[in-house]
Amino acid sequence: MTDKFRLDGAVALVTGGRRGLGHAFARALASAGARVAISSRSSEECSVAVEAMRADGLEISSVTGDVTSYADVEAMVKDVERLYGPVDVLVNNAGIVEHLPSLDVSPESWRSVLSVNLDGLWYCCQVVGRSMTARNHGVIINIGSISGMIVNRPQWQPAYNASKAAVHQLTRSLAAEWAGHNVRVNALALGYVHTEMSPDPTDPEEIQRWVTDVPMQRMATPGEVAPAVVFLASEASSFMTGSVIVLDGGYTLW
Ligand SMILES: NC(=O)c1ccc[n+]([C@@H]2O[C@H](COP(=O)([O-])OP(=O)(O)OC[C@H]3O[C@@H](n4cnc5c(N)ncnc54)[C@H](O)[C@@H]3O)[C@@H](O)[C@H]2O)c1
Repeated sequence: MTDKFRLDGAVALVTGGRRGLGHAFARALASAGARVAISSRSSEECSVAVEAMRADGLEISSVTGDVTSYADVEAMVKDVERLYGPVDVLVNNAGIVEHLPSLDVSPESWRSVLSVNLDGLWYCCQVVGRSMTARNHGVIINIGSISGMIVNRPQWQPAYNASKAAVHQLTRSLAAEWAGHNVRVNALALGYVHTEMSPDPTDPEEIQRWVTDVPMQRMATPGEVAPAVVFLASEASSFMTGSVIVLDGGYTLW
């Protein structure tokens, strides 16, 4: 039964995998037997994460690329193919957030959030999806957010919220289109997880909301949500496509 969660020999690419959630996803996939490439905008950025995971006996390498550049994404995917072979599992994790009230969001700020969270994710889906549909095999996991479903408080983040809602709908759209090619596409709508992206946990106003609005009364750790990516990447979820799995300690219940 647990064999269904194994990923032995599978090739996985995790964008933005040097820290935070991406690091935890990479570690979980490699622990399940995958050969994992993590991407970042510079190879130095990845070296600490790669060394830490290799020290634990995991099969990890790094590739370089800014997901907002189509040329970078194409080169990055070719690098993974050279290292390990074609990508079987793509985790679109790279993302950024800006907390600003709508009337203060400049065109540049709007574009920067949408270009990483939506354009970059789309580029990776299209480039990897081309090879997956040709091979009739593959799994794509898009890292969405509860922000694509509700409006967070107290911080305002209109561009981020819009980008994650678009990620959820793009997930469904690609899932329907590529199901006939045996390519599954799902998303994880995460609640608050302690990472560099999350706010200062000692800030009384933010913590008030970020914790007390959660029925479980706490934020998650990257390590405890990472197994969901293994589930989505593996045969354990073989009949699942187009789903947006909510993993939020109950946040969206209230
Ligand atoms: N932390 C949370 O509470 C939370 C909640 C819901 C969803 N998420 C999502 O999870 C994902 C990871 O977030 P995190 O909390 O680990 O944040 P993080 O800031 O720690 O990590 C984001 C990663 O993306 C990379 N990145 C950013 N722009 C990039 C670009 N242009 N090209 C390549 N890489 C780029 C960064 O270098 C970093 O490694 C994001 O998509 C985020 O929206 C996070």
